[in-house]
Amino acid sequence: MEIQNNKSLKSLNTFGIDASAKHYVEINSIDSFKELLADKKLNAEPKLILGGGSNLLFTKNFDGLVVRNCIPGIEVTSETDTEVIVKAAAGEGWHQFVLWCIARNYAGIENLSLIPGCVGAAPMQNIGAYGVEIKDVFHELEALNIHTGELVKFNLSDCHFGYRESVFKHEYKKQFLIVSLSLKLTKLSSPRAIYRFKTDYGDITHTLREMMVNEYTIKALSDAVIKIRSSKLPDPKVIGNAGSFFKNPVVRKDLFESLLFKYPVMPNYPQKDGHVKIPAGWLIEQCGWKGKVVGNTGAHKTQALVLVNYGNATGNEIWNLALQIQQSVKDKFGIEILPEVNVI
Ligand code: FAD
Ligand code: EPU
Repeated sequence: MEIQNNKSLKSLNTFGIDASAKHYVEINSIDSFKELLADKKLNAEPKLILGGGSNLLFTKNFDGLVVRNCIPGIEVTSETDTEVIVKAAAGEGWHQFVLWCIARNYAGIENLSLIPGCVGAAPMQNIGAYGVEIKDVFHELEALNIHTGELVKFNLSDCHFGYRESVFKHEYKKQFLIVSLSLKLTKLSSPRAIYRFKTDYGDITHTLREMMVNEYTIKALSDAVIKIRSSKLPDPKVIGNAGSFFKNPVVRKDLFESLLFKYPVMPNYPQKDGHVKIPAGWLIEQCGWKGKVVGNTGAHKTQALVLVNYGNATGNEIWNLALQIQQSVKDKFGIEILPEVNVI
């Protein structure tokens, strides 16, 4: 294990922010993390666990130890005639893991294709897209207590998953290093497997028709999701970004109804509990931010919810833009939009 000092994190975060870490290390196993904990000096440092850096905004250098989780491995741990439990180590790339499952005809996460980052970060915010969230297929995860090195198992109810939420963003913030994720998937190779393709979200059916898909397969669904995502989300390799900067706000029905009266075309997603989710991208576009360039930053031209780094933006420039956008949405609609991205 090599400890690097004053390490640049520019290529390790998808915003491409030029921040550095006082100390930096890559771990490939649980034992190597335990070795770190045994080092009293390093253990005393504040720690930041890093995956693919696709949901982080550095507004300053990190004055502590950045631990990049690179633990590899994917295996089937148990199976029945119709279902399979697949365990992936935290350092595996999320999209590569999705493709691994698709290649074996294991269904359940094809709608989550092309989400950047690592497996270990997926439960952090219960990643979701196109009508599916991790919680829908979650079996269990293993995590190391960052202070004691104890390995703890979490089941579905332990994780308190919600929309872009989990216990790891709240009660257990900065307390655990997730080392593996196990999902329960459907074996489509089995004639007895029952599976409903999730095609109701947004443009999926339209895109499948455009692609002239007559028979649904998980590969076709994945290809459709990839096509839709590539058409509106900027590729971080080309323009720095961290996906949706804000979460979509979920508002009370009375506020929603008064807004709908004023803005009858406002898109909206009624929730089971009576609240209504409103797309933050629409709110931000209505405030005039879509495609607007502010110095080195801006709100993207095809997806206003995605804030971008056009070149040499600092984390603070992006954060200042986010605060201005947040204020203008509050002023126009009376709604507070909250960041999805983890601001460091
Ligand atoms: P990082 O950014 O490295 O870390 C994110 C947070 O998790 C940090 O707080 C970090 O400390 C913590 N963390 C990371 N790994 C671990 C671990 N092993 N144990 C404990 N804590 C850990 N998200 C969606 O939900 N849906 C989308 O559709 C989506 N689309 C995106 C599109 C683009 C173009 C981009 C750039 C991002 C998108 N995201 C989306 C956000 C992001 O990809 C996900 O949140 C992803 O899971 C982050 O993974 P990461 O490995 O990059 O995490
Ligand atoms: N919209 C606008 N203007 C915009 C952007 C969107 O009017 O600039 C409208 C669209 O026309 C549509 C609605 O807002 O009516 C929703 O847009 P979209 O389907 O693009 O989804 P989103 O709500 O903006 C969410 C997630 C994405 C996820 C997609 C698909 C959040 C915060 N974002 O985006 O996740 O990929 O749905 O499921 O929930 C991420 O978390 O980083 C992310 C990219």
